[in-house]
Amino acid sequence: VNEIAYVNGQFVAKADAQVNIEDRGYQFGDGAYEVCTIANGQLLDAQPHVKRLERSLRELRIAMPDLNIEQLCLETAQQNHVEWGIVYIQVSRGVAPRNHAFPDKSVLPAVVITSRSMSYPDVFARGEKGVAVISTPEIRWRRCDIKSIALLPNIMAKQEARDVGAFEAWFVNEDGFVTEGSSTNAWIIRDDTVITHPVTNAILNGITRQVVIRLLEKEGLQLKLRPFTLDEVKQADGAFMTSTTVCVTAVTSIDGVDIADGKVDDRILTIAARYKEHVHSAAG
Ligand SMILES: Cc1ncc(COP(=O)(O)O)c(C=O)c1O
Repeated sequence: VNEIAYVNGQFVAKADAQVNIEDRGYQFGDGAYEVCTIANGQLLDAQPHVKRLERSLRELRIAMPDLNIEQLCLETAQQNHVEWGIVYIQVSRGVAPRNHAFPDKSVLPAVVITSRSMSYPDVFARGEKGVAVISTPEIRWRRCDIKSIALLPNIMAKQEARDVGAFEAWFVNEDGFVTEGSSTNAWIIRDDTVITHPVTNAILNGITRQVVIRLLEKEGLQLKLRPFTLDEVKQADGAFMTSTTVCVTAVTSIDGVDIADGKVDDRILTIAARYKEHVHSAAG
């Protein structure tokens, strides 16, 4: 396949795309990123994603590139013939001789955008069937609200899950509370209430999370923003995760313990169906 990437102002063949070895993203993980859904060639929830990128960069004191990010994302998707899939946008602090301290202000942030197709029918089917998760100690930094490209604890946790045949790992902090997944937000349903971690520096405020919160309100489901424990997950009536790439995905077990006897709660199926409609709404 002839994949095309946007790299610092140009569309280039991915095979020929290069970053400087002194890019601070490469050397320090010094940058931020976004992943957005492409639905029928359209960007889903573009504005909240761009706003969150702006916020991540502001918190990291990296200048927001003076570019039409939305347009460039669409162009990258088009160049790659992606009708249904994702775009990845990464902004690093740029290229400078290796030194922890920031480079001079004249150093411009480096921007890379890529896009790939994804099978949404497969994602939705897996989401309704449910997946297994494991728990893992929360070892991340205290600014998980920033969508940083430095993701070592996240990738270690994800691999820990995959090594035991699970799909995702949920971080559990020192107080015994679940914060979120390695690349997803975490939710449980208990009695009539849907519960997820409040927006603090301990989680990334997922765009999917924000959409789902709105959908819950429309469905008349109760929502409680509070941390929950691992025991609560095991005793829950249902559990699920959300993200741009997994949409709404049911969780049927944690650490090998079935949740609600491994049966997916009808309310999760409803939320998943409403989110699916949301994805299709972007497609026009
Ligand atoms: C740590 C983490 N939490 C939550 C999410 C979900 O965010 P979103 O719904 O915006 O994709 C992600 C997405 O990659 C993530 O990496």
